[in-house]
Amino acid sequence: MHSPSELLEHVEQAISEIQYPTYPGNLYEPISYIMSLGGKRVRPTMLLMAVDLFSGDIIKALPAAMAIETFHNFTLIHDDIMDNAPLRRGKQTVHEKWGTNTAILSGDVMMVEANKHITNVDVNILKPALDTFNATAQGVCEGQQLDMEFESRSDVSIREYIDMIRLKTAVLLGGAMKLGAIVAKAKPEEADLIYAFGENLGIAFQLQDDILDVFGDPEKFGKQIAGDIIANKKTYLLLKLQELVSAEDLTKLNEQFTNRNLEDKIERITSLYHHYKIRELATDQMKDYLNNAFKALNKIEIANQRKSELIKLAHELMSREN
Ligand code: IPE
Ligand code: IPE
Ligand code: MG
Ligand code: MG
Ligand code: MG
Repeated sequence: MHSPSELLEHVEQAISEIQYPTYPGNLYEPISYIMSLGGKRVRPTMLLMAVDLFSGDIIKALPAAMAIETFHNFTLIHDDIMDNAPLRRGKQTVHEKWGTNTAILSGDVMMVEANKHITNVDVNILKPALDTFNATAQGVCEGQQLDMEFESRSDVSIREYIDMIRLKTAVLLGGAMKLGAIVAKAKPEEADLIYAFGENLGIAFQLQDDILDVFGDPEKFGKQIAGDIIANKKTYLLLKLQELVSAEDLTKLNEQFTNRNLEDKIERITSLYHHYKIRELATDQMKDYLNNAFKALNKIEIANQRKSELIKLAHELMSREN
């Protein structure tokens, strides 16, 4: 077995070896920019951890890992346009730096680059790998559409929210791990279980992302704090608050959706979160999904010792600061 830091090194090395065309510069520079800004590389690392769990060959899995990380970075470029976000990984977002049209097109060509990576997997597994990759990518688009539609709705349920984050975030972690299982030629039942592990972990991961959006340390978070509040995102925090507020506080909350004094809006909504202990409730929900993930992992009939690094990393992701 490899340690996660060793796997991360493989990921970073492979990323640094990717060569993009150079012309037109403004199409390809944003790709190198976003890909080299770092990020946690959670998805490709966990893909390789799945390969390792099922005793597969790490090197053979690198094309799938590159496809997933390239796809993820593409979704970030487009997500930042949709969310009107100024900062990503502590730096200017691509659309702020190069303009929205270039950000759209660089993102589009990244999707093509991601496809080129996935076709480099062993030809014997090309069909299932491509099917998994496509299903994942389609899910993300569906989730992103719902995320945007929810901004202007006031009757979103927590169930709808969970399904939305399952699509926009969790299917990608699940899909990454399933790709690892496919490369390692795991049995279909095992591939489904590692997918379930990744999907539940992904839901927990997005709950933590929503918590950090409000309560993160601006020095460490790397994104604009309270972007979700500004955009009227229907996060778990907001939906839980809507569920718990008194009639009087609900009136105050509803006024905030049209408050154009953003500092005031952020302060008022955050203070309601504090008052109703929303952060604690969101953390409980996150832990529930983490436990669901572990239940799926438990069902995989492999010595527990081989699962220990995955369990450790899953815990670390729940207390991350960026
Ligand atoms: C950001 O993903 C988008 C979400 C699904 C929350 P990450 O938090 O993995 O971002 P990087 O790649 O580490 O920057
Ligand atoms: C992430 O949702 C989903 C995708 C990027 C597909 P967010 O919009 O919450 O992600 P961040 O917070 O901008 O990274
Ligand atoms: Mg965003
Ligand atoms: Mg978004
Ligand atoms: Mg977010």
